[in-house]
Amino acid sequence: MSQEHESLENLLQENRRFPPSPQFAAQANAKPEIYERAERDRLAFWEEQAGALTWEKKWDAVLDWQPPYAKWFIGGKINASVNALDRHVAQGRGDRVAFYFEGEPGDTQTITYAQLLTEVKKAANALIEIGIKAGDRVAIYMPMIPEAAVAMLACARIGAPHSVVFGGFSADALLSRIQDADAKLVITADGGFRKGAAFALKPAVDEALKGQHNVEKVLVVQRTKQETAWTDRDIWWHDIVGRQSTEHVAESFDSEHPLFILYTSGTTAKPKGIFHTTGGYLTQVAYTHKAVFDLKAESDIFWCTADVGWVTGHSYVVYGPLINGATQVMYEGTPDTPHKGRVFEIIAKYGVTILYTAPTLIRTWMKWGDEFPKAHNLHSLRLLGSVGEPINPEAWMWYRDVIGGNRCPIVDTWWQTETGAIMISPLPGVTATKPGSAMKTIPGISAQVVDENAVPVGNGRGGFLILDKPWPAMLRGIWGEGARYKETYWSRFPGIYFAGDGAKLDDEGAIWLLGRVDDVMNVSGHRISTTEVESALVSHEAVAEAAVVGAADAMTGQGIVAFVILRTGIAHADGVALLTELRNHVAKQIGAIAKPRQILVVNELPKTRSGKIMRRLLKDVAEDRKVGDATTLADPNVMALISQGLKSAKDED
Ligand code: WT7
Repeated sequence: MSQEHESLENLLQENRRFPPSPQFAAQANAKPEIYERAERDRLAFWEEQAGALTWEKKWDAVLDWQPPYAKWFIGGKINASVNALDRHVAQGRGDRVAFYFEGEPGDTQTITYAQLLTEVKKAANALIEIGIKAGDRVAIYMPMIPEAAVAMLACARIGAPHSVVFGGFSADALLSRIQDADAKLVITADGGFRKGAAFALKPAVDEALKGQHNVEKVLVVQRTKQETAWTDRDIWWHDIVGRQSTEHVAESFDSEHPLFILYTSGTTAKPKGIFHTTGGYLTQVAYTHKAVFDLKAESDIFWCTADVGWVTGHSYVVYGPLINGATQVMYEGTPDTPHKGRVFEIIAKYGVTILYTAPTLIRTWMKWGDEFPKAHNLHSLRLLGSVGEPINPEAWMWYRDVIGGNRCPIVDTWWQTETGAIMISPLPGVTATKPGSAMKTIPGISAQVVDENAVPVGNGRGGFLILDKPWPAMLRGIWGEGARYKETYWSRFPGIYFAGDGAKLDDEGAIWLLGRVDDVMNVSGHRISTTEVESALVSHEAVAEAAVVGAADAMTGQGIVAFVILRTGIAHADGVALLTELRNHVAKQIGAIAKPRQILVVNELPKTRSGKIMRRLLKDVAEDRKVGDATTLADPNVMALISQGLKSAKDED
């Protein structure tokens, strides 16, 4: 075993176990035998999952695998919107609520499946009137309002792949995505509500469309009623959709017909247009939504807090839950508006039973204090989910205790924009969970942790996470960039999908995600995960949040630099003593090797709108460089504040 390989290991010890309660296990959708069934005949297992969907024509063959290109359910014909809507209405479930929408200002809408279907049919007719045909790309740039889901489903209904661009992205980012996908139409809104005020979206579209493009029309939903500049290209959504027929018979498309493109950042400046097709994607999102979240469509109220601008919003707000006939909560705004208990208030109001959110929000709640969740009745909750980044054991335990009242199983779900659907997760009712571990691949999925030669590592060892068998919801490529697709995902280990994540198998073979491999530091020849040091820091009572980077160090290769936000009420007037204590705390948790070279107390961390910490920018600060491209930051001022704070700290030295 090489030193490099050995040093990828996560040094933390975690011995707590949370087996499912017998009551939960007895009623769970997934029973232990499901693993065995999938193992016995993987393709038959996936056929069985596909069988839960409504196909106009059944597939002739399950899989055609010409690495790195997969086709699933070949020859099948299917319509995504029919699966999400028509079939529920046809089977008498039209009166079931699809969405309880809660606007940030407090306005609400209750939308049944029948109503949602009518809106989607009208929107589909409007798209046809505008001249959109199957195969044309449509960019969607919207706040988190029901029309965002309607727009996506209307595109899917007529076979026009959508490219949802998160509403927090700039005009430049929007333009580059419009150009790359060569979109013909943009669907947007005048604006939306966030942090207690109306923000405008339409001006960013106007700005973007000053560039080169082939956009013919812009469809504008009226949400805020703010004043909006108008051009000949623009059409109000309510004008054109409002007058459409409520009849639209959906045509089915090939199983491999493109459903959507979604841009995600890679290692270069140009975002990658990850594209997904229809039959396989829908099969895996529906199956995972049922098995991992234990959905009981008749009684559950499901709330995934993700925006539709991210893959989580595609798979677990729009496609998975609607295909399964779920009743959901959709919330437009931020979790602290008008108060820090907003999410908890909404859980209590609608009796949310399943909550799916991100570790960054969980840690934010921890920072705000227990009084906010404790002020609301959260007893309706029966299952909690986490996604997006490794969840540190401390946050996991807090989530379980304070939000879940120690009765809800937690599913820590690992997946990516590229995988389309959940890949690694406990199954509630089956898996005895460990705080901080995503546990193992779900039935039907195969992953390995390998060393640099693609040799699987044994238990107790760390390495690179790879997916060694094709899966139904896998990306079919990077839009228009075949070579980049092969290079990015299939070349590190030839012919094998490399996810870009480091992972460790514990002594029992459970998978612990260690963050992106590019976030793994190398200190004196030992690799240490940034996640691991962050986890150690936030396990100290004074720390609310932490971000760690490996900064170039003449002596050790890299030195560990930590940026920490202290918990409310902790002063750092006695800074030196506290910082020494934190360094020692990390040393105690992990080992002296992991002791941060430097810890900086900050008020904010630079995060993208999706909550990912932009370590690259912190690295620039830690290495005393000019801060790089910060255009995707949620709050553009954060970096200036951090740099200033750092300078004044240095001046004091
Ligand atoms: C990357 C994918 C999947 C939807 C949201 C993010 C990290 C995701 C986990 C998890 C540890 C996780 C990985 C992955 N990640 N979920 N449960 N534990 N890490 O989608 O933007 O495509 O990011 O997020 O590093 O590669 P994405």
